[in-house]
Amino acid sequence: MMNFIRRSPLGAKDRLGYDMRMTELLPLSDLSIARATATLRMGGLVAFPTETVYGLGANANNAAAVAGIFAAKNRPEFNPLISHVATPDAAFALGHRTPMAAALADAFWPGPMTLVLTREPDCPIAMLTSAGLEKIALRVPAHPEAQRLLAAFGGPVAAPSANMSGKISPSRAAHVMQSLAGRIDLVLDGGACANGVESTIIDCTGAQAIILRPGGVTRDEVARVLIKANLDPKVGKPSTSDNDNALVSPGQLASHYAPNATVRLNALTAATDEILVGFGEIAGSGEQPISLSRTSNLNEAAANLFDLLHQLDALKLPKIAIAPIPDTGLGEAINDRLRRAAAPR
Ligand code: TXA
Ligand code: MG
Repeated sequence: MMNFIRRSPLGAKDRLGYDMRMTELLPLSDLSIARATATLRMGGLVAFPTETVYGLGANANNAAAVAGIFAAKNRPEFNPLISHVATPDAAFALGHRTPMAAALADAFWPGPMTLVLTREPDCPIAMLTSAGLEKIALRVPAHPEAQRLLAAFGGPVAAPSANMSGKISPSRAAHVMQSLAGRIDLVLDGGACANGVESTIIDCTGAQAIILRPGGVTRDEVARVLIKANLDPKVGKPSTSDNDNALVSPGQLASHYAPNATVRLNALTAATDEILVGFGEIAGSGEQPISLSRTSNLNEAAANLFDLLHQLDALKLPKIAIAPIPDTGLGEAINDRLRRAAAPR
């Protein structure tokens, strides 16, 4: 089911316990684009230039590959990621096209704008890519080499900025290498990014446009387009519950997916009214024991996490117990997510 990349690890771990690998740095060419698409198809990680900043890309439809992004960045939490595609049509095959989204796409795509849209019913983007959300973030970048890569790959590429968590966003291939060499497969060198500032993120799922993160496209520019299209020209800010953390990570909090069931952590066995989600040696409930990863593979557990929570929710179970997950590497992000799911609501 899951695609795990066969890579040749260097046999060394860095001080964070990460399995180091060879990182190739290649100038952009037909050959390096072909290499990049092959790497993405195998579930690997490719940094590429956009007109805003360099992105760290993985196949957005492959949860295991996307888990690799979080591991490489050493991100202690799962933020929803932006999926990049070559054309507005490709974007609207994945996310629902509203009149507002259509007007903004006409005006600003390709370009430094990301739209948050409701998933289309058959949207193949992995749940991990959107951190469990039914909304997805989509961008059509204008950078010609990003365009080439996305057209050649032919599917959505999930990409946060290509830097270690907590470090500044990279506007040159050298910045990416300084931050991520040894942790990703390939860096495509396309020179300096023109903008250096991230894309404007606009939530188009409600009656009003909401700017979740300011960026390359300004509030006034957005309002002007909405007026011209006879749409509500008021451009909102994230609601107050989101706002406290809007600067840290827009879209993180109130909108974050939480299961309906109550969640108990670090469970070794299930109480009679609970269903147990296993990990490693602790087998879960059921004839085919439910498990985040039977082989204690944290990458696999991260890839399974949101799908599993959604599936359990669909069963309308009142209580979920979850086996202990080690707090190393991706385990930190998994535990962060599980603690939020277990917090009283
Ligand atoms: O310019 C950019 O946007 C760059 C280039 C690579 O495209 N990407 C970038 O990604 O800045 P990142 O991961 O650093 O920031 C993505 C932001 C996150 O803060 C996340 O909260 C928000 O987008 N986001 C993604 N999906 C979302 C969703 N479904 N709902 C709300 N916010 C979302
Ligand atoms: Mg970033």
